Amino acid sequence: MLWHCPEETEGHNLLQPDESPAAVESREQAFLLTTYARTSFHPRSGKGARLTDAAGKEYWDLLGGIAVNALGHQHPRLIQALRDESRQLLHVSNLFYHPAQGILAERLVRASGLNRAFFCNSGTEANEAALKFSRLANPGRSEFVALEESFHGRTMGSLALTGHEAYRSPFLPMVPGAIFVPPNDIAALTAAVSERTCAILLEPVMGEGGIVPLTDEFLIAARQLADRSGAVLIFDEIQCGLGRTGTLFAYEKSGVVPDIVTLAKPLGGGLPLGAVITGPALEGLVKPGHHGTTFGGNPIACRLGIALLDEIEHSHLLERVTVLGKWFGQQLESLRGQSNGAIVEIRGSGMMWGIELDRLAAPVAKELLARGFVVGTARERVLRLLPPYIVPKKALAEFLVTLQAVLAPAVTLPAREQLSNRQRSVA
Ligand SMILES: Cc1ncc(COP(=O)(O)O)c(C=O)c1O
Repeated sequence: MLWHCPEETEGHNLLQPDESPAAVESREQAFLLTTYARTSFHPRSGKGARLTDAAGKEYWDLLGGIAVNALGHQHPRLIQALRDESRQLLHVSNLFYHPAQGILAERLVRASGLNRAFFCNSGTEANEAALKFSRLANPGRSEFVALEESFHGRTMGSLALTGHEAYRSPFLPMVPGAIFVPPNDIAALTAAVSERTCAILLEPVMGEGGIVPLTDEFLIAARQLADRSGAVLIFDEIQCGLGRTGTLFAYEKSGVVPDIVTLAKPLGGGLPLGAVITGPALEGLVKPGHHGTTFGGNPIACRLGIALLDEIEHSHLLERVTVLGKWFGQQLESLRGQSNGAIVEIRGSGMMWGIELDRLAAPVAKELLARGFVVGTARERVLRLLPPYIVPKKALAEFLVTLQAVLAPAVTLPAREQLSNRQRSVA
């Protein structure tokens, strides 16, 4: 017999690795490349917007796998799709046909107002493909315009257009041609775009850059500049897309339609799946052999993508995200008003919020984690919240109370008293 079902190996004494948190951490330190400065947090299971760690402690998950778990954890519709498709085929080569890619492509195309989709495995791959496709539209054009503090991924092309210096500097020299302009600076964008511009790449709401929404005026100007110069307008909706801001695509609010939109994060319902959706400017340009991937458009990931879109539609999640997001934004704003300057600014909409602090965000995020809330950070001073669309209102209400308590020393104590407290604790 060439293989065994698990039940056939029952009774055999298989050596189980130690999966206690301490063993997990020390094994990783010994055997993994140190690409991540991981937080010592060990989620092991989840349900809805709740996560449970290895010790059985429960948390509200307000980060959702950095915008991946839009439906939370163990969503029945996703689990059903996963079960059904995994009983058929785990992988189908892109040499052959499978129904799932076409069904998901049709849904995305109809919702976006664009024409065609290409599937890959991640956000950075989606942006790489978009850059290649824009070259087909503009052969020989050498410049790409992107934003300061943008984030588009870690592969060489996406990295070259990532506007945060720290990500790029260890890997110089970059792929040439990038021009960066400040977000929402129409004059700078106008000066940067020319007949040499191959593409303009923008996140309608900048994620890693600290949750910075681009203004409608800026997106409209980008569209006009692209039309005038012949540049391809690419919107990276990898973090802000697929319902996160209350519309399926964040660009919908501005009325601007890009030539290409890139998606990933929530698209595969937790499995790796990215997409590039192209409009009329790209029609007929992408030919067999121009681009491809072994794993892209995996049948299970695509079935999960279809299930995600079904759930967004059937459970009216866009309305929920809009209404709950509006309430949450108002609450955050009033918390800011009472924070004695500890909260500097609130930015965002729907289930995508940045809370800019007067101090480093990482220690605040760590304290929130200790108190049962998983949140992220962006840049140095921004708390980043990307809760699942199904997050209960009470989780957000509890978060507000806890954040107030965590920031409380700055809220309630005058500076002199804080200093004497610190001196006491040092003593
Ligand atoms: C806006 C944006 N673009 C691209 C990426 C890269 O996606 P991935 O990590 O799947 O390559 C990210 C990831 O955080 C992102 O937020």
